[in-house]
Amino acid sequence: MTYSRIIGTGGYLPEKILTNADLEKLVDTSDQWIFERTGIRSRHLAAEDQDTCDLAEQAARRALTAAQCDVHQLDLIIVATTTPDRVFPSTACLLQARLGNHGAMAFDVQAVCSGFLYALSIADKFIKTGSVRRALIVGAEIFSRLLDWTDRSTCVLFGDGAGAVVVEASAEQGILSSHLHADGAYKDLLTVPATVTQGRLNGDGFTKMQGNEVFKFAVRALSQVVEEALAANQLDQSAIDWLVPHQANIRIIAATAKKLKLPMEKVVVTVSGHGNTSAASVPLALDVAVRDGRIQRGQMLLLEAVGGGFTWGAVLVKF
Ligand code: UT7
Repeated sequence: MTYSRIIGTGGYLPEKILTNADLEKLVDTSDQWIFERTGIRSRHLAAEDQDTCDLAEQAARRALTAAQCDVHQLDLIIVATTTPDRVFPSTACLLQARLGNHGAMAFDVQAVCSGFLYALSIADKFIKTGSVRRALIVGAEIFSRLLDWTDRSTCVLFGDGAGAVVVEASAEQGILSSHLHADGAYKDLLTVPATVTQGRLNGDGFTKMQGNEVFKFAVRALSQVVEEALAANQLDQSAIDWLVPHQANIRIIAATAKKLKLPMEKVVVTVSGHGNTSAASVPLALDVAVRDGRIQRGQMLLLEAVGGGFTWGAVLVKF
């Protein structure tokens, strides 16, 4: 049996930090409201001259170094992003050119905040069929550019960043299973409805969210999908060493941990300093906990995410 093993992780956060106190000067909000409702204290923002590929490149290089993988050994590059630099080519192709790889398969995945899990699962399938040996999977976002900075219900929630992993075919256990779902019936609850037509942006180019509805759905969907992942592997929640959740809201994270009967000490939480970095949030959180030594080889990780679409999913990984 061939598995996909994560052999290196990387992350990158832009230098500029926007605190809740900074936001108090922009909109009618308070550090207390933001922290109590979301767990966020600050988030990073890309510089004006940085693009999504810049963030992706930094995270990718760190993951490649950690994996001791030469860029020419990659057969597949996937970038999960909601904020691509161009309509086309894909950010994955732009990243491939930056890294100096020629000929690997490269494409973007758009599943908003669940994008990294979708991309990881796709890479796993390619590896299992034998057509790919090494893959680079990146979640990268400059979500701040999709925000209306006068809308307090959205602008306090998101941040910019990138996270990456390198996965390799292995006889040792790695990704055990992935469980992905979507329901487009919820398309209007979290959306940027604009399109580019005839050289113009058509429609509203800012993030619109019915936060409360998204919240309720997220808690329900994540509870179901983490149970699905455990049941598929005939595992009890006690088998989980670390929950690595999408970092949208500490209350959603805590609800999932409670469902799994996991103490918060076994949950990787970065939302306080990262905010919601959409497709970057899970690989960024993973990288933080790998680099600070909490996550160790051989441990069982449960990754989960939910996002616009709606899309949602969970991936169980023997690290
Ligand atoms: O990445 C994937 C998906 N995204 C999410 O998972 C986000 C899910 N949703 C949430 O995290 C939460 O719903 C929010 C954090 C967005 C909002 O928290 P809430 O507890 O659901 O608050 P609410 O939307 O019900 O709003 C409560 C009140 C409202 O005032 P009234 O109508 O009660 O007077 C809002 O106008 O809070 C007000 N409010 C704010 N007040 C201060 C909304 N945003 C702010 C703000 N500062 N930034």
